Parts: sequence; C-alpha cells; structure tokens
Amino acid sequence: MLMKLSFVLDKAKAEKRCIPAINVYNLETVQAVLTAAKNLQTPIIVSFGESYLKHASLKQIAAIVRQSAFNHDGSMVLHLDHAKRMDTIKNAIDCGFTSVMYDGSHLPFRQNIEHTRKVVELAGKNNISVEAELGYLNPEDGSSDESIANGYTRVEEAEIFVKETKVDALAVAIGNAHGIYKGTPCLDFQRLYEISNAVDIPLVLHGSSGIPEDQLKKAISLGIAKMNVNTEVALAGSEAIKRMLAQQGIVRLERLMENAQAEMVKVIKKYIKFAYFE
Ligand code: 13P
Repeated sequence: MLMKLSFVLDKAKAEKRCIPAINVYNLETVQAVLTAAKNLQTPIIVSFGESYLKHASLKQIAAIVRQSAFNHDGSMVLHLDHAKRMDTIKNAIDCGFTSVMYDGSHLPFRQNIEHTRKVVELAGKNNISVEAELGYLNPEDGSSDESIANGYTRVEEAEIFVKETKVDALAVAIGNAHGIYKGTPCLDFQRLYEISNAVDIPLVLHGSSGIPEDQLKKAISLGIAKMNVNTEVALAGSEAIKRMLAQQGIVRLERLMENAQAEMVKVIKKYIKFAYFE
C-alpha cells in the first residue's frame, strides 16, 4: 500500500528502526526493491531522483510502482529524491508520488528555508511529505578534510530550519557522501546526537553505501530513520552482468537482467535486515 513518508518514518523513529530508501530507474530496479521488501515483510521507500529523469519519466516510474503496490500489502513510499526544481516537484505530485525531497542544500541558509517552505505548503495541500537537506554533502569523498567538515549540518541551524519550514524529515551532513568513499568514512556522532536532541523529526542519512555497518547501526540508535542506498545496489547488478559476460557463449539480455536483479535483491535485503530488524 502506498503511504506518505511521514507515516512510515514517524513509526520507525518511535521504534528506533530505520527504513532503507533504495534508488530506482527502471522496471527491474523497482521489482528488485519490492521483492526484497515483500520477502522480509517490511516497509520500504522506493526512491527516484530528479537526475534519473533521462532514464524514465516520473509518470512511468509512478505507474510501475502503483501497479506493483496492488500486490504488496506492506507500506511503501514513492519518494522523489534530490529535486532542485519546482516543476519536477509539481509533476511528481501530479503523478502520485507520496513524498518529495527538496534539495536546497546548495543555497544560502535563508534561501533554503524560503524555498523549502514553499514546497512544504504545496505538499501539505496534496497531503504528501517533504524531506529537506541542510549542510553540504560532498558528492564523492567521505574524507574528514577540514573544508568538508565546514559543510556539516550545524545544530543551531537545524533547529531553526525545522521550526520554520515544518519539514517531515531532515537529511544531515555528518561525514556521509554519495558514491564510493575514498577512505573509511567516519560519521560525526556527537553532531548527530546534538541534532537529534535539537529537532524531533526523523533524520535521514544519504550516501549509506560503503559506511561500515557498526556506524550505520549507531546512527540509527541516534535518530537516523531513513537510510539512502544507491551505489552498492547498482554495483551489485553491474558486477553480476560483468561476471556473466565473462563466461563463454551467447548470453541473452533477459538472463543478464534476471541475474542482475537477483544480486540487487540480496544487497537490498542486507540493508533492510540490519536497518529494520537489528
Ligand atoms: P549512495 O549511492 O552513496 O548509496 O547514496 C545514495 C543516496 O544518498 C541517494 O540519495
């Protein structure tokens, strides 16, 4: 059943659980996410990013997810990831997304608040949830470089931001980064603890691929209720394809896709298991 993000995350936060948000870009990836959640009977967030619009339209992804929702009795959220454009957000709402992330993290603080408030107002009229981001998330590298640490979410700003925007969930920058980490990431737990005490909404961790499991578990215990995973799932699929292509003989595309999907399901299940059950 399709639900709004706040419904799923508020419950997860109260139970000190975390719900993985897995990125999708086509039929196979949506099926992989839903298969994993169905097998483990847990809620799940199907996340489609604005940057993936070149692969599929919002309408196409919404149709696939909505159709699949009929066969899925668990809670599912259809979430728009990292949207910077208002037209994408409006379009996602029209297509039936139940949650949107407005990413104004690149903007000055006040401007981020101003834009996020407009999104919250629009989402409220349509009864869907909003996630926003505060702090700079280095696109690739989780090293603890001084200039990167300067972009971490500030506790006082998080408090003001949540109060003034009334967002449902807040993505924080605490040493996490998208993509493949160059070294072992080292999350700033003291900062997370303080942010968690300053705001009472569920917190979101982007860039979860490659963060050691013990750090992810600690982050969950400190208020992370949504964990975004993309790279590790995508790589599991492409590695499976590479392995099959390295074998001799003819390999049909549908067999490649089937194998890639099976490997993606394994990784998604791994994340669900420790985020939701441990
Ligand atoms: P990774 O690709 O690093 O797992 O991050 C995904 C993400 O945060 C999507 O918003």
